[in-house]
Amino acid sequence: MLWRLVCTSGIEQYHHGEEPWALVTGASDGIGKSLCDVLAHRGFNVFIHGRNPQKLAAVMAELSTSHPRRHFEVIVADASKPYLVPEVVAATSDKNLTILINNAGYTGTPIRPLVTMGVSEIERAFNIGVAWTTHLTWALLPQLMKNEPSLLVNVGSFAQAHPPPFLTTYAANKGYLRTFTQALRAEMTFTHYPSIEVQYHEVHAVSTVSNPQATSFSCPTPQVMAEAMVDAVRKKQAVVIPYWVHELIAWILWLLPEVLVIWMTGSILEKRRDDLKDRERADKGKED
Ligand SMILES: NC(=O)c1ccc[n+]([C@@H]2O[C@H](COP(=O)([O-])OP(=O)(O)OC[C@H]3O[C@@H](n4cnc5c(N)ncnc54)[C@H](OP(=O)(O)O)[C@@H]3O)[C@@H](O)[C@H]2O)c1
Repeated sequence: MLWRLVCTSGIEQYHHGEEPWALVTGASDGIGKSLCDVLAHRGFNVFIHGRNPQKLAAVMAELSTSHPRRHFEVIVADASKPYLVPEVVAATSDKNLTILINNAGYTGTPIRPLVTMGVSEIERAFNIGVAWTTHLTWALLPQLMKNEPSLLVNVGSFAQAHPPPFLTTYAANKGYLRTFTQALRAEMTFTHYPSIEVQYHEVHAVSTVSNPQATSFSCPTPQVMAEAMVDAVRKKQAVVIPYWVHELIAWILWLLPEVLVIWMTGSILEKRRDDLKDRERADKGKED
């Protein structure tokens, strides 16, 4: 918590050279869209990545109106298809890319026991959460090394810190992302690239399409979350909890027995189980 008062140097150090650019994946909605807005506000040109060309065009129009002095480009590539990564690299290669935010995750993940998941769901989860992010980072790292100081943020989740029932592949994806971040950060230091800042941002509840909870103190809007994330870059640690209320909650949860935390998260997710909703629908169909 205290780092918020002590650490000062932040996102502005990645604003250097001619026309610095940031790339945000999964940016047609939610936290990703807000990150584009906040980064544009802080002076960066932004690549807006997503899979839906219509939604992306609307986001680009909105951002261009709000930030007329910035440049925006759309990159369309389905993150469940890692073989499309070269298209992202080609779109960014002639720009001064200094920031990559791996925000796209398996956000549409069904809430269900692993045993009821389909093979294609499991494959999709790993393609988006693990393969896409790893391939994209690998492919863009040479650009980030050339353009140092540069920043890489991987967007994680509370589900990794306290893995709950019914979200096994999602929680495991974020666990991979955290370890990947820590190892890559260590590698950058050991190979004399300490000015490539690599961070994992632990996000808790945020009111978005994939988490349609009402906005509250503990479940902020994506805009509040994005601002907290951009500000938190200054912490300069592998794992950061950007939003102060989430950090407070994390401290409280660390003090509780893990079995109690699992029971609490499990009880909440139990009510949202997709396999039970499917069964209800099937039973209702039989009655009709
Ligand atoms: N919201 C939360 O409570 C919460 C909590 C913890 C962690 N997080 C993490 O925060 C990040 C953003 O989540 P969010 O809540 O902002 O999600 P969101 O509002 O559902 O937005 C997800 C974004 O990712 C895009 N996307 C999804 N699948 C994609 C694919 N296969 N290819 C390309 N783009 C794809 C979506 O595109 P479309 O517009 O086409 O759907 C959308 O732009 C994720 O990594 C998530 O795991 C969120």
